[in-house]
Amino acid sequence: MLDGRVKDSRYPLSFHCTPEEGLLNDPNGLIEYQGAYHLFYQWNSKDCSHDYKSWGHVVSQDMIHWKRLPVALVPSEPYDKDGIYSGSAIEKDGKLYLFYTGNVINPDRSRSSFQCWAVSENGVDFKKLGPLFEHPQGYTRHVRDPKVWFDNETHRWRLVLGAQTLAEQGTILCYSSADFKKWQFDGELFDSNEMDKISQRGYMWECPDLFQVDGQELLLYSPQGLTAEREQYQNIHQTVYLSLTKEWQIASENELVEMDWGFEFYAPQTFETADERRILYGWMGVMPPEKEQAQPTVAEKWVHCLTIPRELNFHEGRLYQRPIRELQQLRGEESTFGLMGDWKCPLAKFGSEILMTFDSFAEDFQVEVTTGFSLLFDAKKSLLELSRTNWEDGKKEFRHYHLDEPLKEIQLMIDGSAVEIFVNHGVAVASARFFALEKPLLKYNGKNQGRGVHFSLLDCR
Ligand code: FRU
Repeated sequence: MLDGRVKDSRYPLSFHCTPEEGLLNDPNGLIEYQGAYHLFYQWNSKDCSHDYKSWGHVVSQDMIHWKRLPVALVPSEPYDKDGIYSGSAIEKDGKLYLFYTGNVINPDRSRSSFQCWAVSENGVDFKKLGPLFEHPQGYTRHVRDPKVWFDNETHRWRLVLGAQTLAEQGTILCYSSADFKKWQFDGELFDSNEMDKISQRGYMWECPDLFQVDGQELLLYSPQGLTAEREQYQNIHQTVYLSLTKEWQIASENELVEMDWGFEFYAPQTFETADERRILYGWMGVMPPEKEQAQPTVAEKWVHCLTIPRELNFHEGRLYQRPIRELQQLRGEESTFGLMGDWKCPLAKFGSEILMTFDSFAEDFQVEVTTGFSLLFDAKKSLLELSRTNWEDGKKEFRHYHLDEPLKEIQLMIDGSAVEIFVNHGVAVASARFFALEKPLLKYNGKNQGRGVHFSLLDCR
């Protein structure tokens, strides 16, 4: 549980990272440094708009209980005066380096962006080191979100950026450095042949992340401007992944896979822990501005949260995301309910975890997390449906996920005003916020065989 207004909110969150006040968006600079997990996030501490971005900073021993540290980076220099935009962190020679995009609004309202770095020797105080290189030719000023890592094979530092071509198409730019000082531009990640393999390109790609999980190269990015296709790409912007060959090419049969089929998920970033787990955090908040400003917490002067940390694994061609095992420490009082029939159970203020394990084939069921927010399974169509009442206009809204395998397990991680739904050990995930003033009551209705519903009250005080 973090301090700040959120603690006394009417829509509290206990194991999700929130801002103390103001607006939070992307997770930034995730790193395990000198025995502690550091998490930075895009933060406007002044109000709930997308102006004046700084890097909020929290630290933890277990990725669950966080302590707030002083803001790490605020706009101050000619190259970052209008925003410290997203980026990443690495450790070198015992020092913590942050890489970020300096956002500048020029007097004629045009934008400039600078890829910058900063350093700290204690993980708390940061000294800005200025821009890393000139803006690349042939791209608009929408170039941002440096992700940096050390490539053990080439012994070079690598840096990737989200970018927009002059023809207003999304792309990724690659840089590398042998000495950690001079950066060389290595061109775009994908040439035009590779790009042709991608069904939808969009006008801008944000927050690229390129890494290996279980021996598989993966590219994660957040494209803007994709058109909704059947159940996919229903939110204003999306996050997708692509599996790549060792040479960073797209196998031709490969397709974009949407990372999360819920209502709120965007701009995730991953990092590797000392025990070699690949952990992901995302922003649980992307939405149109009218809807953002209508979000009930705005009246309390704070808005948005991050997802819970998810461990990534890759097998048989698919990416799995599961809540990190540390979250199991929060399990308190536990009970079991049947999967056949109707029952109700109050949810805990400090969160609840619900694990439903089905035998053979799951039959139809419905779980209502709170009034107007439910998850439904249609066995005949092999379809999961998430529905909620939109807080902006009071209309029902839906998201769907088609399973191409039997439904075996649903794990719901429910915090005061956030739910994350993990399907079949994390082969699909849906994230969503809900804002209920009544005490949340879980209602189940179904006629299933199975090991039942394992219900744990979580305690994150
Ligand atoms: C993604 C993003 C990034 C940018 C940051 C600004 O949500 O637009 O591309 O760096 O947010 O807050």
